[in-house]
Amino acid sequence: METSGFTIAIMAAGKGTRLKSKRPKVLHEIGGRALLLHVIAAAKTVVPADQIYCIIGHESERVRAAVGATGVQFVLQPEQRGTGHAMQVLKADFELSGAALPKHLLVLSGDVPLIRPETIAAVRDAHLQEKAAMTILTAVPTDPTGYGRVLRLTSEGPEVVAIVEQKSLSPDQLKAPEINSGIYCFETKALFSKLDSLSTNNAHGEFYLTDVAAMLVAEGKRVVAIKADSVDEVLGANTIAEMMHLDAAIRLDAAKRLMAAGVTIFRPETCVIDSEVTVGPDTVIEPYVQLLGTTKIGSESRVRSYSVIQNSTLGDNVLVRNGCILDAAEVADNALLGPYAHLRPESRIGDGAHVGNFVETKKTTMGKGSKANHLTYLGDAVIGANVNIGAGAITCNYDGVHKHLTTIGDGAFVGSDSTLVAPITVGAGSYIAAGSSITEDVPEGALALGRARQVTKSGWVAKKKSAQKQESR
Ligand code: UD1
Ligand code: CA
Repeated sequence: METSGFTIAIMAAGKGTRLKSKRPKVLHEIGGRALLLHVIAAAKTVVPADQIYCIIGHESERVRAAVGATGVQFVLQPEQRGTGHAMQVLKADFELSGAALPKHLLVLSGDVPLIRPETIAAVRDAHLQEKAAMTILTAVPTDPTGYGRVLRLTSEGPEVVAIVEQKSLSPDQLKAPEINSGIYCFETKALFSKLDSLSTNNAHGEFYLTDVAAMLVAEGKRVVAIKADSVDEVLGANTIAEMMHLDAAIRLDAAKRLMAAGVTIFRPETCVIDSEVTVGPDTVIEPYVQLLGTTKIGSESRVRSYSVIQNSTLGDNVLVRNGCILDAAEVADNALLGPYAHLRPESRIGDGAHVGNFVETKKTTMGKGSKANHLTYLGDAVIGANVNIGAGAITCNYDGVHKHLTTIGDGAFVGSDSTLVAPITVGAGSYIAAGSSITEDVPEGALALGRARQVTKSGWVAKKKSAQKQESR
């Protein structure tokens, strides 16, 4: 079959009034990704990016900035007067640029985000096979309310008579079960020939693209419908509730994909897992865990409940105890984190290292086997192997203007409650006494004390008490 000569248009100019949001509808996220990016990703597997035209309008600059990197083309629809108007604007753009008209035009909706590449290809192929002027992707959901309905000529045949919008349904059409997905394939010339005849004489006062169906039929052109394999992939995202329904579907798919690859996920419906996340076999994910963005986790690791891991890479046999937050961190095999550790960007935790209770790291490398088990802040630090950082130790990395580096050599021992005032170097194998404030470099193997000497007054309490007794007489 000749599948060239196809261009894709994605309608993404609408405001999304039903969301009651400042953010344009197509930039709302499900599965951790903007609606429009889902649609573009699917479209790009069917035609090259430069054959995809995104029709943008509401907050167009914001939308362009958010999806520009995909390489798609943009057409501006400054006023949004309906889906038919979006096509009028596209037509005018083609005419103005003098570009050759594509023979066929696949039209997708920016707010129907779960559409799969296979389904777009199926619409294209059915369109060619049926030699249709317009091919409509449809579905039969449990509740069709709100959608335009596709009325077929006969219940068996593919031929369509018309698409009727919800508000225009006659009482006996209200139960019509087959919905218009908002995804179509057109013979471009046939579509463009009808656009000027559209009117706004309807409930919304808009130009409806859906009216083109009956207009083509009236001219004796072939308009057909094909049903999508799954209802979910053609559901629209018009309200927050609808989006969260789709979001849950995506997350559950992601969890299922990981489970099929050998990952144990307890109560997967409580976990939030983005589509790009990868996890090795025999890793266990406990309830209420979030794995976001480009996170990668190795095998035989365990992530305990309430941890949120974003754009981070974890090795094998890592234990993430409860309540950890990781953002753009790298964690080597056998490491132990938490509970309640916070690993901020550029934290690099070595093999077998521990980052324990209430420890925060940022832009910090911890060597193999090093430990910071309790209540510590490590920022802008390069820490060698087998270093012990005592409870409450802190790198003072910020002087109010600049950030400074702390370097700690292999095997050093930093006593509890020490402050290391950066820039500073603590030599390998050295000791820092607990409670020290270290402001000067410590050589290898040295002991550094940076605290006031303790004063002990023997018998002081008894003397004080007898003095108080005499006073009160
Ligand atoms: C549309 C269909 C309806 C179908 C449903 C499927 C029409 C008239 N109705 O209704 O039959 O069941 O989709 O989800 O087409 N847009 C523009 N410019 C505009 C208006 C809209 O680009 O001027 C974009 C929107 O951003 C959105 C898409 O077109 O991505 C669909 O518009 P929307 O207003 O959501 O249409 P529905 O009411 O859902
Ligand atoms: Ca919609």
